Amino acid sequence: MQTTEADFPDPTTPGLTTPDLTLALIVRDDISEFLPLLGSWEVVRYTSRIPYPYSQADGEAYVARVADAWRRNGSLECALRDRKDGTFVGIAALTIDDDPAEAEIGYWIGLPFWGRGFATQASQALIRHGFTAMGLDRIVSTVVRENAASSHVLEKVGLNRTGEDETFFPARDKHYPVYRFELTREKWMKDNG
Ligand SMILES: CC(C)(COP(=O)(O)OP(=O)(O)OC[C@H]1O[C@@H](n2cnc3c(N)ncnc32)[C@H](O)[C@@H]1OP(=O)(O)O)[C@@H](O)C(=O)NCCC(=O)NCCS
Repeated sequence: MQTTEADFPDPTTPGLTTPDLTLALIVRDDISEFLPLLGSWEVVRYTSRIPYPYSQADGEAYVARVADAWRRNGSLECALRDRKDGTFVGIAALTIDDDPAEAEIGYWIGLPFWGRGFATQASQALIRHGFTAMGLDRIVSTVVRENAASSHVLEKVGLNRTGEDETFFPARDKHYPVYRFELTREKWMKDNG
């Protein structure tokens, strides 16, 4: 079952919440808020889909891709906002490619907001949504070997390391060795039963 329009009736309306965050589909108005956060090399260097430097045109193209993927296959690319004051703190995504039963989880948090549990909370919310509302069988991810914080987040939310690979990183214009991670719905249900 794909996520339906009813789950996110209006992309500007928060669709999911965590103790500290709201998650809502990325829209054009978000660009002015995430652009400055993507000026930090520390944020971009380990991501496999973000160019550096990041321009307004990159933001416009990204927002168009988000809307298209959401309509086409239910991929979710969400703005993360602090529930207290609405501050934009980062992005978390469940991206579906060829296999509708599998999504890749990815995230980045703006540098001033690291270490507050935001990536963990957003991942937990997306994983729950993926295995319940979206009917996924499997959630996967890849992490640059040296990105210990991200590996730790994935392990904390239940993913297991399954192997190694190589991925192209546009910000570095280079291939890098990565760890592959995976969580099946069966394991998630056992862990969260
Ligand atoms: C990785 C990233 C998303 C983590 O976001 P965050 O909101 O700070 O993460 P959380 O606070 O939820 O959790 C971070 C965990 O990693 C741990 N951690 C932080 N730095 C670490 C390091 N160098 N080695 C191991 N663990 C580390 C923290 O202690 C915390 O674990 P704990 O809750 O058990 O104490 C953030 O640093 C980031 O955006 N990095 C750049 C983009 C990126 O790497 N995206 C992921 C690509 S796969």
